Amino acid sequence: MRKIYLFDTTLRDGEQSPGVNLNTKEKLEIAHQLERLGIDRMEAGFPAASPGDLAAVNAVAKAVKNATVVGLARSRVQDIDAAYEALKDAEDPCLHLFLASSPIHRQHKLRMTKEQMLEAAEAAIKYAGKYFTKIQFSPEDAGRTELDFLCQVTDMAIKAGATVVNIPDTVGYLYPAEFGNIFKTLKEQVPGIEKIQLSAHCHDDLGMATANALAAVLNGADQVEGTINGIGERAGNTALEEVAMSLETRQDFFQAKSTMVLSEIARSSRLVSKLTGMVVPGNKAIVGANAFAHESGIHQDGMLKEKTTYEIMSPETIGLKESKLVLGKHSGRHAFREKLIDLGYELSDEQLNIAFSKFKDLADKKKEVSDEDIRAFIEEKIVDTQE
Ligand code: KIV
Ligand code: ZN
Repeated sequence: MRKIYLFDTTLRDGEQSPGVNLNTKEKLEIAHQLERLGIDRMEAGFPAASPGDLAAVNAVAKAVKNATVVGLARSRVQDIDAAYEALKDAEDPCLHLFLASSPIHRQHKLRMTKEQMLEAAEAAIKYAGKYFTKIQFSPEDAGRTELDFLCQVTDMAIKAGATVVNIPDTVGYLYPAEFGNIFKTLKEQVPGIEKIQLSAHCHDDLGMATANALAAVLNGADQVEGTINGIGERAGNTALEEVAMSLETRQDFFQAKSTMVLSEIARSSRLVSKLTGMVVPGNKAIVGANAFAHESGIHQDGMLKEKTTYEIMSPETIGLKESKLVLGKHSGRHAFREKLIDLGYELSDEQLNIAFSKFKDLADKKKEVSDEDIRAFIEEKIVDTQE
């Protein structure tokens, strides 16, 4: 089965989430967890951004032994020198160079023609070749770049010495069929494409980041970039745990797999949330608090009979203990009785009827009925009916 490389950029694009700032100690803690998670490549930061980030990338480069450590650089000599300084002690370093290719960026931001963009990127890749054997090149805003020009950029990058060409949908603009088509076209039209790896880097502005990354996989991408919990600029990046679990759960469809250590997902999510201060929404796929929780009576009844009725993945796979049956106003008698057994109560049918109607009254007033609530009214009702 084809392996999909996972490139984690929690420490770089993830750190670009507004309000997030990780110090060296925090970056190291996340980097070690990413190693345990089995991430293939981790982008530790943007060394030219600040002396602090250069030092942090250097610390990660020295500490990490089981993954490629990547540093980001604009296509400028000073940035490449800073990245070399930061990465020179890494066991397996990689430089990630970028330069925007879309008409909007060329015209308004870079003020470069297509030819000037190609020349600047080529010069940067060749310069980086003095220091690095692994060079990833990203045409920023590739998603809004003319497809024939993107083919030219990719051709130039391969000839100049890039080992990975990463296709960023920088502003999360594309739909899966469009993003997939870029990969298909590059594979078909760029000579020598088989010599390099193609990578997908997606943002979630329209909620398409994971779907777009998977569309790229279906069309031949070798690598997916993303972050833990999907944090990142604006609406964030592709959530890597979503990609890994999609490949795992739908192996039949994707015919590809990652080597993420799935049982480390929950721990990684909690750590990144704690250190970045970015709370994971309850309904977030895979790692949200409700991802394996069931409230309605019909679902709970199904779950108690056979878990696969309402769960396509098991919580144990991602390192959680078990699914949760949350008692609320939609819950039914079956889940309620199971909860009572769990809490150590054996009630007669008559007691169960009284307790269940008391529970429904309470559930109408509260979002979730806790174990403590149940204990309180059961003790009261049992005493009542025994007297
Ligand atoms: O979104 C983007 O274009 C980026 C590049 C630096 C790869 O993060
Ligand atoms: Zn990005």
